[in-house]
Amino acid sequence: MVKSVYHELTSLCNCRCKVCNVWTVGGKGDLSQEQLTKLYTNESFKDVEDYCISGGEPTCRPDLFSVTESALDNLNKVRLLFLTTNGTNPNKAEEFLKRFKKGLELCCVSISLDGDRETHKYLRGADIYDSALETAKACARLQDKNAEVTFSMTLSNDNWNLEQLSHVLSLSKELGVGFTFRPRLHNPYFGGHFNSQLDAIPKEKRIEVARFIRDYMGTSKFMKIEAEYLENGRIPIMGSRAEGIKCSAGLTSVFINSFGDIYPCMNSANKIGDYRQGITNKTPIVGETEPCPCCSECQVYPTMIFGGRK
Ligand SMILES: C[S@@+](CC[C@H](N)C(=O)[O-])C[C@H]1O[C@@H](n2cnc3c(N)ncnc32)[C@H](O)[C@@H]1O
Ligand code: SF4
Ligand code: SF4
Repeated sequence: MVKSVYHELTSLCNCRCKVCNVWTVGGKGDLSQEQLTKLYTNESFKDVEDYCISGGEPTCRPDLFSVTESALDNLNKVRLLFLTTNGTNPNKAEEFLKRFKKGLELCCVSISLDGDRETHKYLRGADIYDSALETAKACARLQDKNAEVTFSMTLSNDNWNLEQLSHVLSLSKELGVGFTFRPRLHNPYFGGHFNSQLDAIPKEKRIEVARFIRDYMGTSKFMKIEAEYLENGRIPIMGSRAEGIKCSAGLTSVFINSFGDIYPCMNSANKIGDYRQGITNKTPIVGETEPCPCCSECQVYPTMIFGGRK
């Protein structure tokens, strides 16, 4: 039973990030409310508890609130709701958190920040450092036991260093919000080809970041896993191809792209269904038929929360 959905609600985006090509699709093929209702009401999704709205930039969708309301009405077991945003629409992100934290176990707004002002501007192709901070401050005021705010950083060659990591970590402490990061993935979702995202990163740079995690962020479960990944190239709870995959991608969690096509995870090119029919194909085990280069929260957390493949 699918418990966790990571949904690319739109491919619209107002940034031009170096590590992501989603913006080139420009909203073409985004599902209408009617098509989304078809998706949400499919039997395959009746047990979803964890729903992550991503994109593209979800706040670029004019109907973000009504679409989310409809998702929650239909996916009525959802208790964990996430919004990922580049922070270019502070009012909308704040309103999202205000509206949807009510009645949920947790509503979380995750704001991308890839380093200091200049680094963020370079990597995002837009001068949006101030609006990301404004979004974090506005949302931070709403934090309580049902509402969380997090800075989210993607590490690539241009910001893979302790200076940029420390900058975002310090800001997160100053504003009282969370902080998470992951290495850049190379996959079709982000407009690349399958590849291990660690291939281009020298071993000493990986070890340096693993040490940073152990020194400053060791209490986060995901970060502990990531440190091990950076050191050994394998993810403890996900297993490895040699050991047999334990990851639950395609069983308890799926990725849905902006066209409504369903995949076991964002690193897979094996389509297993679509918004019209739900999950129709027998789920292949990613890693047996295609590379399995994972280490991102949206893929690791579902296995942590809902368990892995037996
Ligand atoms: C695709 S974005 C969508 C939401 C929003 N537009 C944003 O940038 O936060 C979701 C997250 O994926 C991250 N991301 C983008 N390209 C990536 C890549 N190639 N590998 C891993 N994460 C990536 C972004 O930095 C962001 O934190
Ligand atoms: S990472 Fe987010 S902000 Fe950047 S291009 Fe991709 S979708 Fe847009
Ligand atoms: S790449 Fe996909 S199948 Fe492999 S561990 Fe990551 S989420 Fe699981």
